[in-house]
Amino acid sequence: MKNIIVIIGIGGMGIAIARRIGRGNRLVLADFDNMKLHAAARELINAGYEVEAVVLDIINRKSVEDLAETASQLGEIHAVIHTAGLSPTMSDAQRILDVNLIGTGRIIETFQKHMKAGSVGIIIASMAGHMSTRYDNILEKQQWSAAADELKIFVDSLEIKQSAEAYSISKKANILQVQAAAVNWAEKGARILSISPGIISNPMVGVEKRKQSAKNYTLENATVKRMVTPEDIAAAVEFLQSSQASFITGTDLLIDGGVTSFTKNLQLNSH
Ligand SMILES: NC(=O)c1ccc[n+]([C@@H]2O[C@H](COP(=O)([O-])OP(=O)(O)OC[C@H]3O[C@@H](n4cnc5c(N)ncnc54)[C@H](O)[C@@H]3O)[C@@H](O)[C@H]2O)c1
Repeated sequence: MKNIIVIIGIGGMGIAIARRIGRGNRLVLADFDNMKLHAAARELINAGYEVEAVVLDIINRKSVEDLAETASQLGEIHAVIHTAGLSPTMSDAQRILDVNLIGTGRIIETFQKHMKAGSVGIIIASMAGHMSTRYDNILEKQQWSAAADELKIFVDSLEIKQSAEAYSISKKANILQVQAAAVNWAEKGARILSISPGIISNPMVGVEKRKQSAKNYTLENATVKRMVTPEDIAAAVEFLQSSQASFITGTDLLIDGGVTSFTKNLQLNSH
């Protein structure tokens, strides 16, 4: 029987990952956007991939449970790759936290039940999760393995209003959620980790570029002088989901071309 690879979020990164690791496996693609999902599924089927498409909203617990159930009925889930998310310019603070943080919590807690020895979860966080926020002390002390419903009460109590701040907090939380979950996933012999990409070169970035000031747009700050591409992320996913990475769990891989280290050095040198 073929391995099942679940890819949640079939935007720029999801499709690159599907193409990279889908061959010889059975892909279960899931997204909120029905038209985009089915267009991506058609494209991959025409290219020879074996694909099931499932519409879901990761905020909704039942929706995530139905996806996990559908996928596990098709076969053994080898990997769940979570790329669904909202960038700071796409929505307000509340929805960004609900999708990026609570939605991720629902995926981690639901799929944990379906993991087998050798299974892997990969959560796409962001370089923004490596930037400091005024909530860092509180976030570090939170019990991130708590149920998503409990996390929602905690996050709502912070009363975050700015979408950029909500985004950074949600992505920092994703890194901490993965660290916390690794212990429970290990009980099943499964691994879970996160990847933090820098700003990716895809159509969404065109919107981000226009909406953000040039100062915040970090290509010129990269140590590697080019944009990160979805293929850079897909290549890392290919390695991390393989048995060659069997000792890697509970950790985050920052793939930002050196932007974070450049920025930290700049801050140190300006003091
Ligand atoms: N693009 C970048 O520059 C960049 C950089 C760092 C991190 N990230 C993160 O990487 C992930 C993937 O980014 P991308 O560039 O592929 O984004 P994208 O916008 O191309 O794709 C994200 C997908 O998530 C889906 N989605 C949104 N809300 C959903 C919900 N409630 N339920 C189910 N699906 C939902 C969207 O329909 C979309 O297809 C996101 O979490 C994003 O925050 C992106």
